[in-house]
Amino acid sequence: MLLRTAVLMFSMACSIFIFSECLKQISTHARTKFLELNVIEKPSQSIVIPYLHYPEPVSFSRKECARNPVLFFVILSNQRSGSGWFETLLNSHINVSSNGEIFSVIRRRKNASSILHTLDKVYNLDWLNSASKNECSAAVGLKWMLNQDHVDVSSEYYELVQIKTFSGSMQGLLEHHKEIAEYFDHKRVSIIFLFRRNLLRRMVSLLANSYDRYAKLLNGTHKSHVHSAEEADILSKYKPTINTTSLLDDLKDMEMRAAKVLEYFNSTRHIILYYEDLVRNPNMLKDVQQFLGLPQMELTSRQVKIHRGPLSDHIQNWDDVNKALKGTVYESFLEADY
Ligand SMILES: *[C@@H]1O[C@H](CO)[C@@H](O)[C@H](O)[C@H]1NC(C)=O
Ligand SMILES: *[C@@H]1O[C@H](CO)[C@@H](O)[C@H](O)[C@H]1NC(C)=O
Ligand SMILES: *[C@@H]1O[C@H](CO)[C@@H](O)[C@H](O)[C@H]1NC(C)=O
Ligand SMILES: *[C@@H]1O[C@H](CO)[C@@H](O)[C@H](O)[C@H]1NC(C)=O
Ligand SMILES: *[C@@H]1O[C@H](CO)[C@@H](O)[C@H](O)[C@H]1NC(C)=O
Repeated sequence: MLLRTAVLMFSMACSIFIFSECLKQISTHARTKFLELNVIEKPSQSIVIPYLHYPEPVSFSRKECARNPVLFFVILSNQRSGSGWFETLLNSHINVSSNGEIFSVIRRRKNASSILHTLDKVYNLDWLNSASKNECSAAVGLKWMLNQDHVDVSSEYYELVQIKTFSGSMQGLLEHHKEIAEYFDHKRVSIIFLFRRNLLRRMVSLLANSYDRYAKLLNGTHKSHVHSAEEADILSKYKPTINTTSLLDDLKDMEMRAAKVLEYFNSTRHIILYYEDLVRNPNMLKDVQQFLGLPQMELTSRQVKIHRGPLSDHIQNWDDVNKALKGTVYESFLEADY
């Protein structure tokens, strides 16, 4: 129980670094800038009027809330970067409807027009699911992944296909970035970028999650997120082996992807959050609520972190990985917590 409480507290201790305007510096050769920007720039206090909307959904009436403005947002993130946890935090707000990974369904991202059509529906509040707060939503949005893992592996092929996990297929965001960026600007959508600083930890999480897809360690059920320390312990017993031949390229690739998306969407109103900072500093959730123009509330999530403690406990071939990264720009990933 004590451990459970500690883990809960730990996962609720969250923080955010915000530096809205620093993006001009991000370019493909600037890895260290991307990961080591520590400047905190808060978004301006008040939301500018054009970002407030008064949708008129066709599926229901907003009733007494029709006069409350609604802000449109999108969370742009990568798999295994805390976005599931972050979205449950947001959805614990009485006025937030974040509708999940809508574009994991291929039909909705078939071409640019099907994407925009889907977005229209979301922002008109006509996308109904369990997260919808309906008439009294003050911020409505979705989670959109820069990559999508869809590794269907059988155990014998697992080692061979694992590396594909890092790039994965996309959810239409990068392929149609031009149309989507225009849409965001035109519709005044605000972007929350959510990244993870320690890409090696992300890699461990990706590999373990792919493994569990067929191993189904929790009583035969595959789970990507857990709600108890016991479940976390069971899932983290599996230690992935990391391909050290491609490790540097894989890390670089992950970084490039994030840099690219920042570049594509840099003219849209946004904040940048890092998972590690959110975990460390709960006050950063206040900045997020402010960014979304929400009344401040305590946000909660039942999700529990799966891989805790030093990375050396979670990687099968730790010595090789250690050797591969020592003396490189990624050396700090070996030590960093979270
Ligand atoms: C956005 O990125 C493009 C391409 O790197 C750059 O030319 C442009 O100046 C950037 N705009 C802003 C507002 O940072
Ligand atoms: C996009 O896909 C939809 C649905 O399949 C189709 O009806 C439409 O013609 C396509 N639009 C373009 C521009 O290809
Ligand atoms: C938030 O939701 C509550 C309950 O549905 C509603 O009374 C309130 O007006 C909403 N606030 C905003 C800012 O929309
Ligand atoms: C490791 O990566 C290298 C280079 O990409 C590749 O040739 C090799 O097949 C990979 N090994 C495994 C076990 O996936
Ligand atoms: C697995 O199922 C058993 C029996 O139903 C239950 O006692 C146990 O808690 C379950 N374990 C997990 C990890 O869900």
